[in-house]
Amino acid sequence: MKTFRILTASLAGLAIAGLAHAAGGAKHAYPPEGGWPFEGITGQYDQASVARGYQVYKQVCSSCHGMELLSYRNLGEKGGPFYDPSYPNANDNPYVRALAAENEILDPVPNEFGEFDFRPATPADRFRSPFPNDAAARAANGGALPPDLSVITKARHGGASYVYNLMLGYPDFDLYEDRIREENGETIYETIIDLTRFEKLGDYRPAHGPAYVVQPAGQFYNPYMPGDITANYEADPRHVPPGGFLAMGPQLPPGRVEYTDGIEATTKQMAYDVAQFLAWAGDPKLEARKQVGLATMIYLLILSILLWFSYKRIWRKVEH
Ligand code: HEC
Repeated sequence: MKTFRILTASLAGLAIAGLAHAAGGAKHAYPPEGGWPFEGITGQYDQASVARGYQVYKQVCSSCHGMELLSYRNLGEKGGPFYDPSYPNANDNPYVRALAAENEILDPVPNEFGEFDFRPATPADRFRSPFPNDAAARAANGGALPPDLSVITKARHGGASYVYNLMLGYPDFDLYEDRIREENGETIYETIIDLTRFEKLGDYRPAHGPAYVVQPAGQFYNPYMPGDITANYEADPRHVPPGGFLAMGPQLPPGRVEYTDGIEATTKQMAYDVAQFLAWAGDPKLEARKQVGLATMIYLLILSILLWFSYKRIWRKVEH
C-alpha cells in the first residue's frame, strides 16, 4: 500500500513537472555552426574573435552592463586577446594602456581636498561601471537591472551558446506590429508579434494564425529567455511557444560596430564575437588549464604503462 502511494505521488509529481515544462521554458541554445573553438580537450579561444568581442562589449554593451571582476590588464595577460610576449607584465603593454585610458573612471583614491575626481583608467583599474550603483542602473533601464557580465557565461544554462542565441533570438524588426485598442474607455497602445511569421521558432512556430504575443511595455519577447508567455499569448494556450520577456531589446543590428580587421559586422558575427569574449572573461585561464590537464593525462598514461611492465617483471617467477 505504502509503495503504491509513493508510486502515485511520484507519478503525479512527474505529471505536474511535465505540465510546467510544456508551458514556458526556453528554446534550447545550440552552439553556432561548427561549434566553439574553445570546446573539447584541446580547444582554445579564437583570440581575434575575443578581441572583436571586446570591441562589441565596449561600444555596445558597456553602456548598460559592467564587468566588475575584470581589470584592463587582464586583456593583456597570457591567454588574453591583447597578450604580447614582449610585455610579460600587461601593465607595461602600451596597447592595453591605451585601451584602459579610453575609459574615464572615478578615482577610488580621494584628491588632496578629499574629493573624488574622474581620471583615465590604467591597466590596474577594474572595468568602468556604467552606473554608480544598482538603483541608478534600474532607474535608467525601466526598473530592470542589467546584470554584471563578468561571469554571465557561467551563470546561465547554456553559457556562451545562450548569450549567442539570446542576441540572435529576437524577432526581426519587420515582425513587430503596433496595435491600438479601446478597453474600458481607455486607449491602449501595444506591440504585438504574429508568431506564425516568426521563422526562428522552428518546430515551435504555430501553424495557424494569427498567433499574437503581446509585449508588455518596455519588455521584449525572446524565445531563448527562460520564462512563460502564456498570459500574453492570444492563440491556443495548449501550445504556447517557449521563451519569455526581458527588459533588453535587440542590441546588434548589422553594422552596429565597425571592425578594423576587415571582418563584416553582421548580427551573427557580433553575437559570436561578444559571446566568445564573455566566455573568455568568465574563464580566462582555460588554455593554461587544458595544457596542464593534457600533460598530466600523458604523464599518467606513461606511468601506467611503466607500472604494468614492472608488475609483470616483479611477479614473473611467482605462480599467481
Ligand atoms: C540599453 C541597455 C543595454 C544594453 C546596451 C545591453 N543590455 Fe543586456 N540587459 C539590459 C537589461 C536592462 C537587462 C535585464 C533584462 C531583464 O532582466 O529583464 C539585460 C540583460 C542581459 C543579459 C541577461 C539575460 C538573462 O538571462 O537574464 C545578457 C546575457 C545581456 N543582457 C547581454 C548583453 C550583451 C552581450 C550586450 C551587448 C551586445 C548587451 N546586453 C547590451 C540592458 C542592456
